[in-house]
Amino acid sequence: MSIQCPPGMRDFYPEDMRVQNWLFDHWRSVSRAFGFSEYEGPIFEFLELYELKSGAGIVSELFSFTDRGERRFAIRPEMTPTLARMVAARANALPRPIKWFSIPRMCRAEKPQRGRLREFFQWNVDTLGSEDPLADAEVVAVAVEFLRRVGLSEQDVAVRLNHRGLMKHALEALGVPVGQQGKAFELIDRSEKIGDDAFCQHWRQHFPDSDAERVADVLRRASLDECLRLAGAGGDDLAQPTRQFREMWERLRSFACEAYCVFDPRIVRGLAYYTGAVFEVHARRVQLRALLGGGRYDDLTGLLDGPRVPGVGFGMGDAPMLEALRELGKLPRLDEGIDAFVIDADAQRFDDVLGLVTRLRREGLVVDYSYKRQAIGKQLKQASARAARYAVIVGHEWPQAEQVALKDMTTGQQRVAAAAELAACMRR
Ligand code: HAM
Repeated sequence: MSIQCPPGMRDFYPEDMRVQNWLFDHWRSVSRAFGFSEYEGPIFEFLELYELKSGAGIVSELFSFTDRGERRFAIRPEMTPTLARMVAARANALPRPIKWFSIPRMCRAEKPQRGRLREFFQWNVDTLGSEDPLADAEVVAVAVEFLRRVGLSEQDVAVRLNHRGLMKHALEALGVPVGQQGKAFELIDRSEKIGDDAFCQHWRQHFPDSDAERVADVLRRASLDECLRLAGAGGDDLAQPTRQFREMWERLRSFACEAYCVFDPRIVRGLAYYTGAVFEVHARRVQLRALLGGGRYDDLTGLLDGPRVPGVGFGMGDAPMLEALRELGKLPRLDEGIDAFVIDADAQRFDDVLGLVTRLRREGLVVDYSYKRQAIGKQLKQASARAARYAVIVGHEWPQAEQVALKDMTTGQQRVAAAAELAACMRR
């Protein structure tokens, strides 16, 4: 019987790992450039953490189990509840703002599809301990800087932004009773996936006093000013979200990432804990669900019985991002990064080969050689197949291996070099 990799999970062969590491290197270096520190949490948590905090969408996708002590756990489907738990536990000791990032592996029992798997990695970037819209804009700027660094321009991707506070009022004006906005957000969050007709049908079922077609129309094309006008009936309550959202846009301008950003009333997010600005990144020309999702959550630590620590952040999945990069031709060709492949001109010199390999490795280079004693031509072929930058040939003419032939595998040029200076030559 042949047993395969479970559906929605992945094997990472070395060539896949190179791509993963390339992506993670970008995630890490961008996070650090913005002053975020890395953290990690456990792979599973008490089930209640998600039942209480994430909302129905995620809870229906949990992989959960009971241990021998009858305690119920779930493999983490997202990082935000863990982050809130960790911050709440040390809330008084942590200097503010708390700027943290993580690249956790997580599982959701989703139906596997393009860019959505059952096991994936998700880059999380969050700022806690500040209500300033500067923090909202800065996490968006982190995401935009990543997109820029991997070669995605504003023609390739868009950051679509909205604010739940504004939408609450706009929805009230559209006939959604106070207290039922959570359900409305869930339906709107799925609207693009299910299409206008199905959306209107569901909407009528839940909100019979609201004009579903009008709502669909507002979602499709209303500008920020139109939404603000619609929400205007909300009175004083509206002043704070409006100010926050406008300030966030100003800061996005200061961080020079406004060109990527658009207002979009359809972005309300499915997770229950968001309280303010919400945003997603979508590829413009590739049929994929969101590449990133995030927003402000000011009450999450409070829900965990900790002190109130407002937060804002996002998660970006590896699977959808790599799909988009692949389709847009932005994935680089990644080889093994071998600096030198050391070759013996005849089998007698193999001991010198191993001596030189050891010396170059100690000098910090990436070095390999053939396990088989064979003709120079065959070894050179191996060097080329492994995409080594240089071949180093230990020849008959230098019995002490004090000199060697150094062949640049890109240009084909070959010259004699002193073994002692090889590392420096190659670095140059
Ligand atoms: P989310 O919208 O559930 O939010 O997920 C955020 C991103 O994770 C998605 O846009 C997508 O890139 C990726 N993702 C989600 N599910 C899958 C999947 N099944 N396979 C591959 N990638 C996936 C959250 O998780 C929030 N906790 C994000 C957050 C952090 N909000 C504030 N801080």
